[in-house]
Amino acid sequence: MTQLLQTPVKSPSGTFTKLVSKEGGTEYEPLPIHICEETFAPLEVAYDYDAIRRLVSRESIAAGPNSIWRYKAFLPVATDNPIDVGTGMTPLVKSTRLARRLGLKNLYIKNDAVNMPTLSFKDRVVSVALTRAREFGFSTVSCASTGNLANSTAAIAAHAGLECCVFIPADLEAGKILGTLIYNPTVMAVKGNYDQVNRLCSEVANTYGWGFVNINLRPYYSEGSKTLGFEVAEQLGWQLPDHVVVPVASGSLYTKIYKGFREFVKVGLVDDKPVRFSGAQAEGCSPVAQAFKEGRDFISPVKPNTIAKSIAIGNPADGVYALELARKTGGQIETVTDAEIIAGIKLLAETEGIFTETAGGTTIAVLQKLVEAGKIDPEETTVAYITGNGLKTQEAIQGAIGEPFAIDANLGSFERAWERAQTLERLDWQQVLV
Ligand SMILES: Cc1ncc(COP(=O)(O)O)c(C=O)c1O
Repeated sequence: MTQLLQTPVKSPSGTFTKLVSKEGGTEYEPLPIHICEETFAPLEVAYDYDAIRRLVSRESIAAGPNSIWRYKAFLPVATDNPIDVGTGMTPLVKSTRLARRLGLKNLYIKNDAVNMPTLSFKDRVVSVALTRAREFGFSTVSCASTGNLANSTAAIAAHAGLECCVFIPADLEAGKILGTLIYNPTVMAVKGNYDQVNRLCSEVANTYGWGFVNINLRPYYSEGSKTLGFEVAEQLGWQLPDHVVVPVASGSLYTKIYKGFREFVKVGLVDDKPVRFSGAQAEGCSPVAQAFKEGRDFISPVKPNTIAKSIAIGNPADGVYALELARKTGGQIETVTDAEIIAGIKLLAETEGIFTETAGGTTIAVLQKLVEAGKIDPEETTVAYITGNGLKTQEAIQGAIGEPFAIDANLGSFERAWERAQTLERLDWQQVLV
């Protein structure tokens, strides 16, 4: 059942060179491996930044594809023909109404709720991982997912003609399950939480020799999240923001946006400046925030219990690195309740016309909390990362939004309903004013 791997493919331009252990620095060939044999620490892709500096400029990037692949020199794939399904280059929206509501002057929303093809940032990491999987010669790809990753893996595998089997917790939202099944992969709905799904997948990966995007391909997969740093810097006019607010599950996205910013500084594409990194977690699954608040430098795993299922990881693989990053950059890792997450989803929708899922509701609610606590200066350029789409988590807001007026097809019926609507609106305002 184990598949034969082709020889490892190295970058012909020499931009990525090897894998390096995050603890101790032991070096490895860029193979489908993810853990250091000596320290059991995660492996990370290392690059030759002199080679990248020679290859890229602001102009060459701007002239590249309108997708994450304009940053190919910074991504760990060898091919000139990556899987490009239009992922990336999502809008960076300068907020006016939400900013005013929060009292901020320079707030931006990075809107990956409209990322392609499956409406979450996971399309970035999967595009990179499956391009790499193809280079290694895997014909079957897989993942352990909280929902969005399964959507992306199934869709992009379908596009690339790869066999696909994904693993999810059985209790995911209907939209997430349907949004995977439509691509016709094999879906394993596991009776257990994400951390149990992940443990099972590690065993399957060892036995079956499949390309698991977030297990044996994790060093390559996680690099895809850097593009959320690159794009924001480019869209701000080749500048770094002052403060970012990012949802934290495994902690990979949060730490890789930082890596993206640092790489742009390293090769001279942007000027250096401090960027504060704040993380957002749901109170019902907040192992990183708890360690942050208690001043610990280790993570105590928790059992998730929150509506924010996409970020419900109780034992986060990159948790300690997220913790370090928040402390090093002077950011915060804050939590919000499920009720606050719902309020965050509604607030973003009503002020900006962006419908996000629970992870985005968590980010907006944490943003609001940080502003109220005086942790965000109104003048600083702040970017809130919205990483997924609300149409996939409709259960979360059932009962928390209005209902349509059911009317007959005549003017009188409309007028009576309109009168009632006006009264309701006035009542709403009176509640706000109390
Ligand atoms: C919508 C969304 N946002 C954020 C995250 C957090 O990602 P990470 O595990 O890289 O911290 C996830 C993870 O699945 C997600 O689905």
